[in-house]
Amino acid sequence: MSCFSFLFSRKERTFSGEHTEEIDEEVSGIQNTKMFAYKELKMATGNFHYSNKIGSGGFGVVYKGTLRDGTMVAIKVLSEDSKQGVREFLTEINVIADIEHENLVELRGCCVEGKHRILVYSYLENNSLAQTLLGGRDGTSSMQFSWQARRNICIGVAKGLAFLHEEVQPHIVHRDIKASNILLDTNLNPKISDFGLAKLFPDNTTHISTRVAGTTGYLAPEYAIRGRLTRKADIYSFGVLLMEIVSGRCNTNRRLHVSEQFLLEMAWNMYGCGQLLELVDPSLNGDFNDEEAQKFLKIGLLCTQDMSKFRPSMSQVVKMLMGEVAVDDQNISKPGLLSDIATLRDQKDKSDNTTEGTGKGGTSSSSSENIPTSHATMTFNSIFDRSN
Ligand SMILES: Nc1ncnc2c1ncn2[C@@H]1O[C@H](COP(=O)(O)OP(=O)(O)OP(=O)(O)O)[C@@H](O)[C@H]1O
Ligand SMILES: [Mg+2]
Repeated sequence: MSCFSFLFSRKERTFSGEHTEEIDEEVSGIQNTKMFAYKELKMATGNFHYSNKIGSGGFGVVYKGTLRDGTMVAIKVLSEDSKQGVREFLTEINVIADIEHENLVELRGCCVEGKHRILVYSYLENNSLAQTLLGGRDGTSSMQFSWQARRNICIGVAKGLAFLHEEVQPHIVHRDIKASNILLDTNLNPKISDFGLAKLFPDNTTHISTRVAGTTGYLAPEYAIRGRLTRKADIYSFGVLLMEIVSGRCNTNRRLHVSEQFLLEMAWNMYGCGQLLELVDPSLNGDFNDEEAQKFLKIGLLCTQDMSKFRPSMSQVVKMLMGEVAVDDQNISKPGLLSDIATLRDQKDKSDNTTEGTGKGGTSSSSSENIPTSHATMTFNSIFDRSN
């Protein structure tokens, strides 16, 4: 699912240099989650047999496993050369071990033994939206999703995000909302997964200035360009995902004609000439509710507006999707589009010889003082792209 990826080079990141005593201490101090013995997980997966492999990502390989009591689990093994590493392993545990919601994946526990770092989740039978709706790497969809199923998925993901943004204290910004991080259970109920990049937002924090991490194609412009992270960055990613679900295609597809390669650009153009419905997945063969599909696409546009302050909150999005409040479609402004980012990239290229970005990881708290002055340089130098 690599979108906008020609703009950003994938930065490899290892934590070997960052594997400090502090991290070791944190790992050994994990308390809020069940600890599995390595032996048990080895048994559950038939010695991590390749036939039990269900996926792999930046973190490592994911296996299907059966625990001694018969429970099916997904076992995510941090690879030693993981680009995401122990820091994300810890973040994942700290962020989701204590929260529960029907639209968030359930972390069952973890394993920390010797060099082994493993996360254990409830197993979701229908894999991820990237695999089943968008068709994985070869782009061929393996399942049919009715309009009703898509509607349910959009609303479920929106509810999960609204919970993270507005109900959990401190609020949580996920930072990597994308199709491969939306898992589906037997009934196609969606569960948001992968909290390794998440950031906690205490109540009085308006934004965090941070190294940009996430997946190209889903990154909000203000975040991609200036490293300015707010909940609105997740809302942008959600808007992209919403359009992918309705249209049944990835946000970027370079195999298509140039005018159709970027979903957001297409949606904006079609909205402009009143033809938004043409974006709906043709595999539905017209079997969908016109009014609702149009509304969902408009909500996608509202969420991806270039100006983050115009994007609705996730609780507003839930209400709009469910038809509880009307969609104000009179004033939808232009989405944060690829071409605009490309322009900035060019500006950055020109200024490269004169400014040097910090490229520092870690977060700093909410004040804008923390935003480096050479915004574009800082961001483009330090971006960490998780697209596969
Ligand atoms: N709980 C689970 N149940 C079923 N399948 C899962 C589960 N967790 C992960 N998977 C599968 O394993 C794949 C890899 O997951 P992982 O989160 O490691 O990588 P990713 O999301 O594809 O990429 P990235 O590293 O960018 O997040 C998922 O896309 C999904 O297909
Ligand atoms: Mg993932």
